[in-house]
Amino acid sequence: MEKRLIVGVTGASGSIYATTLMNALALMDWQVELIMSVTGEKVLAYETGIERSAFPENVHIHENDNLFSSLASGSYRTAGMVVIPCSMNTLGLMATGTGDHLLARAAQVTLKERCPLVVVPREMPFNIIHLENMLRLARAGATIMSASPGFYHQPKEMQDLVNHVVGKVLDQFGIENTLFKRWSGV
Ligand SMILES: Cc1cc2nc3c(=O)[nH]c(=O)nc-3n(C[C@H](O)[C@H](O)[C@H](O)COP(=O)(O)O)c2cc1C
Repeated sequence: MEKRLIVGVTGASGSIYATTLMNALALMDWQVELIMSVTGEKVLAYETGIERSAFPENVHIHENDNLFSSLASGSYRTAGMVVIPCSMNTLGLMATGTGDHLLARAAQVTLKERCPLVVVPREMPFNIIHLENMLRLARAGATIMSASPGFYHQPKEMQDLVNHVVGKVLDQFGIENTLFKRWSGV
């Protein structure tokens, strides 16, 4: 398997999930093919205080308006794509196979190549259109993982909750990790 993962970051709240994922992948020597929507980059800077210049070295940024990027083609091999956090706007684009930016195109490519597409939506509450879009995407092969951490590992800090979600995302790609304490029965 290629040690390259496409990471899409959109303008939903919860960009700490994306920064935690990128840091975890850096430690495991994975290359991150990062696409940020315009609002995604702004929300990330607002919520975390982290600018693109401070991303780990393993992060290769593809501009969202660059449809000449390698990620626009299924001939470029990756382990798949995760959209984290995923806005309802980008969810809608992916569910309808539309959108003229790289993030939406890369998601279409990932689905057509039958590679794993993991979507981490963040919104509350969901309206019926959001729910239908999730169902449509799931039927097309995507895995919908709501940004809702478990509490059975008895988290002490916010980062423990974030790590639980990110660890479960990594599990979806078969990437071994110890980000969270697994349930082993009582
Ligand atoms: C601080 C902030 C937080 C936001 N949180 C969410 C959210 O949790 N979920 C969501 O769907 N949209 C959220 N939005 C709205 C999206 O950013 C907006 O719909 C935008 O058009 C998404 O564009 P994108 O899909 O290209 O990133 C938020 C916006 C801001 C400024």
